[in-house]
Amino acid sequence: MRMYDIIEKKRDGQELTETEIQFFINGYTKDEIPDYQVSALLMAIYFNDMTDGERASLTKVMVESGDQIDLAQIEGVKVDKHSTGGVGDTTTLILAPLVASVGVPIAKMSGRGLGHTGGTIDKLESIPGFHVEITNDEFIELVNKNKVAVIGQSGNLTPADKKLYSLRDVTATVNSIPLIASSIMSKKIAAGADAIVLDVKTGSGAFMKELEDSEKLASAMVSIGQQVGRNTIAIISDMNQPLGFAIGNALEVKEAIATLQGNGPKDLTELCLVLASHMVVLANQATSTEEARKKLEENLKNGKALEQFKLFLGSQGGDTSVVDQPDTLPQASYQVELPAKVSGTVSKIVADEIGTAAMMLGAGRATKESEIDLAVGIVLHKKIGDDVKQGEALLTIHANSEAIDDVKELLYQNIEISTGKIEAPPLIYGTIT
Ligand code: URA
Ligand code: CA
Repeated sequence: MRMYDIIEKKRDGQELTETEIQFFINGYTKDEIPDYQVSALLMAIYFNDMTDGERASLTKVMVESGDQIDLAQIEGVKVDKHSTGGVGDTTTLILAPLVASVGVPIAKMSGRGLGHTGGTIDKLESIPGFHVEITNDEFIELVNKNKVAVIGQSGNLTPADKKLYSLRDVTATVNSIPLIASSIMSKKIAAGADAIVLDVKTGSGAFMKELEDSEKLASAMVSIGQQVGRNTIAIISDMNQPLGFAIGNALEVKEAIATLQGNGPKDLTELCLVLASHMVVLANQATSTEEARKKLEENLKNGKALEQFKLFLGSQGGDTSVVDQPDTLPQASYQVELPAKVSGTVSKIVADEIGTAAMMLGAGRATKESEIDLAVGIVLHKKIGDDVKQGEALLTIHANSEAIDDVKELLYQNIEISTGKIEAPPLIYGTIT
């Protein structure tokens, strides 16, 4: 087999066999095929797309390129959730204990974040003592005992995806549905999930800005999941504005606690209930999303979800008193309100730019080596569709520096106030099964 022939075949719009896909992925992972040939193939894929079969083969082969986490020792169906990435997305912190509280095992492997705020692990580490450096055996034992545990990324998962993603990044081939879908799905499958709930974001703050593209990506991932024997469903949710009110690590932990107490922002609570309901159904702990939702709502009301969160924190070294006294979480030195310059209705809160503002305060990492400040961030007081009076606070900036004029400027540029009737955007655009 020759790489030249594989490139030529894809260039001419023909379907590659699994053996051919295996040849190029394995050869590339082992440095036996040069970047320039793989670049040419990626560009051919970008223009000629891949069939459902090719997408599934690519995913399978990437999963097999490295270690795979074996969760067989955990009883029950292991369901994982993946979000394609948004601003102020605190859902994982809420979903893990909430879903576990109705008996679904949550074995979560998570990473540190790059971008607007930290990842799930960074957020959890704002809780004194909490750590994810546990052995695989401890991890499995904890999930069996408590139904929920989080472990840091370890092992050599999907090395083929890592190499391919870096190459796509410099060859203008990131934005390809078959390549994105196989990249995301290979990582979830290698991490051991039996079933997967995908939260595909759409809008200004999302990877896919157009609904049509988000739907295509969601369908592509669901199809891959079904073909490789992992039950997968996707929901498409809004990322035209940040989710919830808080953007920033400790601020989002506080928001998660409030949500688990039943006092969270409406959009965040609703999205969590929708995603959690699907997770419970995929785990065979309810026969319909309605039945699942009833159980979940009950556990938000009766305190069981919150108790589950405490159990989870405590068993990984975390100080559980923060749940009852969230003010003991890291706090920024300055809290500065941003007053509205005019009266009207909020018509735009450009999510990714608000995320950039949070990053400028220190909430996120610009590079892998950057240190993050867990205390800083932004808390919105208004969302799209809310009325505001001139001088009233649009949001509060939590900063550890007084020099935040550039942050204020960026925020003003990206929050629009209009007159006339403005509707809040829908939260959920659809479900793809
Ligand atoms: N996220 C991924 O993990 N892979 C992609 O290709 C794009 C986004
Ligand atoms: Ca939030």
